[in-house]
Amino acid sequence: MKVGIVGLGTMGTTHAAGYQSVAGAKLVAVADIQPNRSHAVAERYGVRSYATLAEMLEAEDLDVVDVCLPTFLHRQAVEMAAAAGKHVFCEKPLALTPEDAKAMVDACRKAGVTLGVGHVVRFFPEYQKAKTVLAAGEMGKIGTVYMYRGGGGFPTAWQDWYARHEWSGGIVLDLMIHDLDFLLWTMGDVERVFAKSTWRRDYGRMEHALVSLRFANGVIGNVEGTWLPLESFKTEFEFAGTNGLLSHSSAHAVSFKSHQLQTPGEAGPQGVTVPRSPVTRSPYSLELEHFIDCLHKGVEPIINGEAGLRAVTLVAAAQKSIETGKPVGLERG
Ligand SMILES: NC(=O)c1ccc[n+]([C@@H]2O[C@H](COP(=O)([O-])OP(=O)(O)OC[C@H]3O[C@@H](n4cnc5c(N)ncnc54)[C@H](O)[C@@H]3O)[C@@H](O)[C@H]2O)c1
Repeated sequence: MKVGIVGLGTMGTTHAAGYQSVAGAKLVAVADIQPNRSHAVAERYGVRSYATLAEMLEAEDLDVVDVCLPTFLHRQAVEMAAAAGKHVFCEKPLALTPEDAKAMVDACRKAGVTLGVGHVVRFFPEYQKAKTVLAAGEMGKIGTVYMYRGGGGFPTAWQDWYARHEWSGGIVLDLMIHDLDFLLWTMGDVERVFAKSTWRRDYGRMEHALVSLRFANGVIGNVEGTWLPLESFKTEFEFAGTNGLLSHSSAHAVSFKSHQLQTPGEAGPQGVTVPRSPVTRSPYSLELEHFIDCLHKGVEPIINGEAGLRAVTLVAAAQKSIETGKPVGLERG
């Protein structure tokens, strides 16, 4: 599979490094409107570089387009790639709104191409293990779950796009969607959501949010996310079941006591904190390898367009709750 990446910031450079160990895929081209970025990555991996996705599509015979652009540019890029008949891997969140996400899913289905979404948390070993334990029923009946993510400070990026809510969607869409997707995967449909955040009350960069969820199976979930500059970035979860407690904190896990933990994307510019796990292959390589493998086998990836849409739909309900101060119900499915 010949791959071209568009957007070479934190995630584009992480994906470029990731493809180097993915069997069945070859990175052949990259595109970024900042020539220094596209040239640096092109030189490092011996691939061709372009300024835009349109130019890359015109000049290259790609099988896969990997979209690592800021979130507000995802829809346009995914639709352009699909129209050109390319399979698409898109960084999370799939889109700013459920309407955009649905249009992207439909565009890919219509074009007969596969859409995969980068909800990479499903490829982190601690989370994969939790999924296995939960699915096996070892925990008994789950009553509550708590998840936490953040503390590394506000992300820096091209045009400071994370600070513009209409470009990034804020912390619930950008950061907390990782945990919300994981909970949809492990706990199933959400019936009702109630959320609070500092958005519009405080300086945007101090965004901190709490999302409470009632799942259709009765489980109560509490998800907390922060862009505050605390002592360090960490992730945590705690599932409480009738058979005991299943908990994880990256702050206490021996595997995470590595200096690699808080480095920005490999060879990339200063940007978002991308957690790493030295005990395993990079989860970013693993998610790409899974996607490529599914393309070779002609099967759906575990995080397809519909899964990306489902997560964005849950976020939209949480955002509506933040805006209205009221709980918001969700349809099943
Ligand atoms: N999975 C994760 O852990 C994770 C972590 C961080 C970010 N993300 C997601 O990845 C995406 C990218 O985030 P980032 O932090 O890498 O952003 P970034 O700002 O670091 O990089 C974006 C790049 O896109 C380029 N660009 C902008 N407009 C362009 C255009 N029209 N054509 C070509 N290039 C263009 C910029 O020059 C920049 O190099 C976002 O959707 C973000 O939410 C995911």
